Amino acid sequence: MKLDGIEGKVAIVTGSGGGIGEGYAKGLAAQGAKVVVAEIQKENGERVADEIRQSGAEAKFIEVDVGSPESTKAMADAAIDAFGGIDFLVNNAAIFGDMKLDSLVNVDWDYYRRFMNVNMDGALLCARACFPSMKQRPGAAIVNQSSTAAWMGVGFYGLAKLAMNGITQCLAREMGHAGVRVNAIAPGPTDTQALKNTAGEYAGQLVAQLPLSRLGQPEDMVNACLFLLSDASSWITGQVLNVDGGQISRL
Ligand SMILES: NC(=O)c1ccc[n+]([C@@H]2O[C@H](COP(=O)([O-])OP(=O)(O)OC[C@H]3O[C@@H](n4cnc5c(N)ncnc54)[C@H](O)[C@@H]3O)[C@@H](O)[C@H]2O)c1
Repeated sequence: MKLDGIEGKVAIVTGSGGGIGEGYAKGLAAQGAKVVVAEIQKENGERVADEIRQSGAEAKFIEVDVGSPESTKAMADAAIDAFGGIDFLVNNAAIFGDMKLDSLVNVDWDYYRRFMNVNMDGALLCARACFPSMKQRPGAAIVNQSSTAAWMGVGFYGLAKLAMNGITQCLAREMGHAGVRVNAIAPGPTDTQALKNTAGEYAGQLVAQLPLSRLGQPEDMVNACLFLLSDASSWITGQVLNVDGGQISRL
C-alpha cells in the first residue's frame, strides 16, 4: 500500500547495513524514497545500497560513525550533495548485537562512555546535522529507534533507550515550530541476528511472556516507521510507539 508523503523524499537511515535498519531502508525505497544507507560497517552498507539500486530505486551508501560530530556532519553534507536535501531521518544505529552484557555498577567506564556516545548521543548528533536541511523541507520527520528495554530497568542499554525517548520529546518540542515532527518506535524482541547474539536462548522466554506469542519481524517495525514518516501521521509528534506484541501494557 502506498502512503502519501514519502515518494520522492530523501531519507537517511542509520545502522541500515542489516537487521531492522535494512528493513527500514528497503521499505522506504519501495515507497519511492531516495535512501541514504548510513552505516559504520562498510561492506554491509554497500550491500544494502546495491540491493536497493538493483530493485530500481535510488540509494547511496555513506559511511558514518553516529557518535562523531564530524562524521554525522559529513553524512548530512554528502546526503545533500547526492540528493539535494534531507526530508527524513531514521535514527536506528546502535551498539546492540555485539554489546557487552554487564551491570551499571561494574561496566568498564570507557566502554560505557562509548556505548552512550553511540546509543544515546548518536541520535542527537544526526538530528543536529540534518536539521538545517530538514527545516526547509515541508513534511520533514524523524523516527528514533527506542526499545521496550527503556521501561525495564535493564542497565546501560535500557538507559540509552530511555534517553532516546527523552530526546524524542525534547526535539519534538524544539523542532515542531519549524515543521519537523519527531517520534520514536520502541520494538519488542525482534527477529534479527543481533537479537540472537544478545538474547540467545532467553529469546524463547521473552516470546512466552508476550500476549501475541511470536517474535516481532522487521516488517512490523517498517509498517510503523512508514506511518510515522508519512502524511498519515501529520499531527503526531513527540510520541513513543511500542511495537511489541503487547510486551509493555499498562493498566
Ligand atoms: N532486535 C531487537 O530485538 C530490538 C529490540 C528493540 C530495539 N532494537 C533496536 O533496533 C535497532 C536495530 O537493531 P537490530 O536488531 O537490527 O541490530 P543490528 O545490530 O543489526 O543493527 C544496528 C546497526 O547499527 C550499526 N552501527 C553500530 N554502531 C554504529 C555507529 N557508531 N555508527 C553507525 N552505525 C552503527 C551496526 O553496524 C548495525 O548495522 C537498534 O537501535 C536496536 O537497539 C532492536
